[in-house]
Amino acid sequence: MLHLDVLLLIYHFAKFGSGNILEIGPYIGGSTIAAAFGARESGTPKKIISVEAGGRLKHRRIPSRNIFKDLKKNLTRFGVSESVTLINGYSYQETTISAIQQMLGRGEVGLFIFDADDNVRRDLDCYGDLLADCCWLVIDDYFGPCVKAAPRQAQVKELVSDGRLVPFGFYGWSTWVGQWRQK
Ligand SMILES: C[S@@+](CC[C@H](N)C(=O)[O-])C[C@H]1O[C@@H](n2cnc3c(N)ncnc32)[C@H](O)[C@@H]1O
Repeated sequence: MLHLDVLLLIYHFAKFGSGNILEIGPYIGGSTIAAAFGARESGTPKKIISVEAGGRLKHRRIPSRNIFKDLKKNLTRFGVSESVTLINGYSYQETTISAIQQMLGRGEVGLFIFDADDNVRRDLDCYGDLLADCCWLVIDDYFGPCVKAAPRQAQVKELVSDGRLVPFGFYGWSTWVGQWRQK
């Protein structure tokens, strides 16, 4: 789950930034709703595409027995279901990749949100061409006890030293925020 500060940043990027929004791992929609509110208030039509594998999660505070169903329910409850295209699948599946490539063109994404598993590099390899130069990236679990943190941090550091990512700062509990540099 993302801290309120990060949800506000997502809202801000969606409202004031340019380009479409691609999200991997929305869970039951906190970040998706923040992005959809920002996009709606930007006054510019934006595509929001969010990829969720689904399943169930025994979370202490916010559990879900059917993640995809709860995600759809929450988007409807907050009045944004029409503005978000949901894909029920893993980000690295061929069907997901081709669906996204049909909806988004090269350099069209201005905000990329990653809060899924431990392999952000895999998804940047898949979708990097779709990101604009200077696209904002929000990558959760960069620090801390979460098992995803160490591999994510190593991958982000490597991408920073390769000149593909530019760090901006750390927010909330452990979220890395920065920008993409197109080759
Ligand atoms: C930590 S939760 C996301 C929380 C959400 N960003 C929020 O602010 O409430 C991670 C989610 O990513 C999903 N997920 C994990 N790996 C995935 C992948 N490769 N593709 C799509 N979804 C994935 C899980 O099912 C889970 O719902």
